[in-house]
Amino acid sequence: MWQNVQAAPADAILGLADAFRGDTDPRKVNLGVGVYKDESGVTPILRAVKEAEQLLVEREVSKDYLPIPGDMSFAGPVKELLFGAGHAAVVENRVVTAHTPGGTGALRVGAELLHRFLPKATVWVSTPTWVNHRGIFAAAGFPLREYPYYDAMRMGIDFSALLETLQNVPAGDIVVLHACCHNPCGFDLSRAEWDAIIEVAKKKEWLPFLDFAYQGFAESPEADRYAVAGFAATGQDMLVAGSFSKNFGLYDERCGALSLIAPTAAQAEVAMSHMKTVIRVLYSNPPAHGGLIVATILADRRLRAAWREELAAMRQRIVDMRRLLVDGLKARGVNRDFSFINRQRGMFSYTGLDNRVVERLRGEKHIYMVAGGRINLAGLTRKNIDYVCDSICKALADE
Ligand code: LMR
Repeated sequence: MWQNVQAAPADAILGLADAFRGDTDPRKVNLGVGVYKDESGVTPILRAVKEAEQLLVEREVSKDYLPIPGDMSFAGPVKELLFGAGHAAVVENRVVTAHTPGGTGALRVGAELLHRFLPKATVWVSTPTWVNHRGIFAAAGFPLREYPYYDAMRMGIDFSALLETLQNVPAGDIVVLHACCHNPCGFDLSRAEWDAIIEVAKKKEWLPFLDFAYQGFAESPEADRYAVAGFAATGQDMLVAGSFSKNFGLYDERCGALSLIAPTAAQAEVAMSHMKTVIRVLYSNPPAHGGLIVATILADRRLRAAWREELAAMRQRIVDMRRLLVDGLKARGVNRDFSFINRQRGMFSYTGLDNRVVERLRGEKHIYMVAGGRINLAGLTRKNIDYVCDSICKALADE
């Protein structure tokens, strides 16, 4: 069967992680896949997570299947985290939430569900966007188009081009938006810009699908949900794909959440009934552990406070690494201004390094970055920062 079949290319991000694992050079540095690392280069298990796990081991009495949308304890606190406890859409029961296998699972379930009811829609993604967005929406059967976002010339967002395009998106099409910490470019919209986009969505009646994978990595869990809460307040249909991989460090537990907001509680209930049929044929019901950890932490005042502190520490370490990188490059007299890196938010930076430099850094220096020049700042430490700065300077000088 496979005799005449060509091998598929490695995944642009996870394939890079595999290559890094196989690299035996002691100097190697992984700035590729978006996984948080601490100062010693380790992806830690948060203390709040460990504590919740202990509680779960003690309390657990069964390995019975979960309900299709996940454990009963999951949706309530997760909605409060994503939208805010008193949000009208939550209070009025217009939000339904399912525990999905990661943010990817949330996006895929949402895409399948939308394709059932909007089979003629086009999905609009930002230029650039997370590479997997394309695969996920294409696999669900949607054609894709792009709206302008990152502008390399001005090292920021081309907001007027973005708004103009979104003003011309046909009613009933789907627009995928990065709620915070844009992946890959790291440049986020201001609150005023979000307000303008929300107005356009209302007027033009396209459907927002917010990817919310980095809540808490820009400013705080509350500040970062500005766009999510704003769209949900319009009373229109929308979807949100949340992820707990990053903010709870639960990468391998595959824990995310798909939320759907409808104009009325009755419609939201109908939507959930269909969401369940989509999930049933994809994976039947979710794996329990990650969802129970998140629910346990969010429901416990002390654990929640401890988790917030650990999240803040992760956020701060990334900000520190941004500064060290910018200062380190400047101190070496590099012939470019990298100060824009301090204006980006979240785990990533679009460095402006082109693919030749990216490949050179990997081949000669064993420093791994995603094609297009995206780096994960959390892969930097005080130990490897000088090596990375020296290597970037050298690669640029050799160009
Ligand atoms: C990333 O963009 O590196 C992360 O979201 C991990 C992934 O699944 O691609």
